[in-house]
Amino acid sequence: MIDALIQQRRNRDLSIDDLLSVGDLSDKDIDLIFELTTIAESILTSNERKCSLLKGITQFNFFLEPSTRTRTGFELAWKNLWADVVNLSSTSSSMSKGETLLDTIQTLGALKPDLIVVRSPTSWAPHFIASNSCASVINAWDWWNEHPTQWLLCLYTITKFLGKGLKWKKIVIVGDTMHSRVFGSLIRMTQRFWMNVIVSAPCTLIQNNLEQFWAKIEYNLDKAIEWADIIYTLRLQTERASWSFVSSWVEYSNKYIINERRLNLASPSAIVMHPWPVMRNFDIHEKVLSDTRCKILDQVSSWYAIRFILLWLFWSKSKKYSQSNLS
Ligand code: CP
Repeated sequence: MIDALIQQRRNRDLSIDDLLSVGDLSDKDIDLIFELTTIAESILTSNERKCSLLKGITQFNFFLEPSTRTRTGFELAWKNLWADVVNLSSTSSSMSKGETLLDTIQTLGALKPDLIVVRSPTSWAPHFIASNSCASVINAWDWWNEHPTQWLLCLYTITKFLGKGLKWKKIVIVGDTMHSRVFGSLIRMTQRFWMNVIVSAPCTLIQNNLEQFWAKIEYNLDKAIEWADIIYTLRLQTERASWSFVSSWVEYSNKYIINERRLNLASPSAIVMHPWPVMRNFDIHEKVLSDTRCKILDQVSSWYAIRFILLWLFWSKSKKYSQSNLS
């Protein structure tokens, strides 16, 4: 199967050196990533999953904010691809002693990493790192800005279940769009693929620039769900004081939880998505989590395959790799 993967790639490369923003990816890039991800999904459930595609490569996992899915997805992919991985967090790096991001990056750069995956509570930090490093940089979320690998796996899941033609597909995005880590990339996806989008949330949790993304607002979630092909629900970001934006937790949950009654208002072919972690029985009811229309675990299983493929593709785009090939 590894041979099939290499053959399917046919020496094709991505058009970009770093994955900082979803807008950087061309349609051809997305097609290449998805073609290879389909094969990677079979590899990762077989005994061929340990392969040496990235043997000898040094990668830094630079997470300045907590993560379960993104970090483990990349870490497992690195381990299966035999790369050498160094994990750094805000508390385990000298940034906790006041070292600047520039000094940290220059120090790490002296160790000649090939790839850096970075999650930062500061928007544009991955762009700053990319312009001060020879490694290829993958943005694993930069505050309210973007989460491109999450965007790719959501898009992959949607096309898997609803087909490639996304034009005019109807998506309702429910919940804390104000503080969400994935909303920025998600709303760009709806616009890029000409999807119809409705945001449903309390007015205090809705960003005020939605018209630039052609999004409409519907405070009555029942109405929005009746209309939707995709119900994409977001967690209330309690770690960012989102609770102070709602008058009562109980009222918020009553109005915006995806429960069985609401799911039954949707078309039988509608799907439910969520980026995880969920607040069980608060933003989504456990009966919905076990419904066949709920594709949250499918999102989870593709997170690993997508990241496996991204590491492989970005290694050959690494600036260090290109320089060594040129010399
Ligand atoms: N969806 C997502 O980014 O999850 P983590 O915060 O666990 O990485």
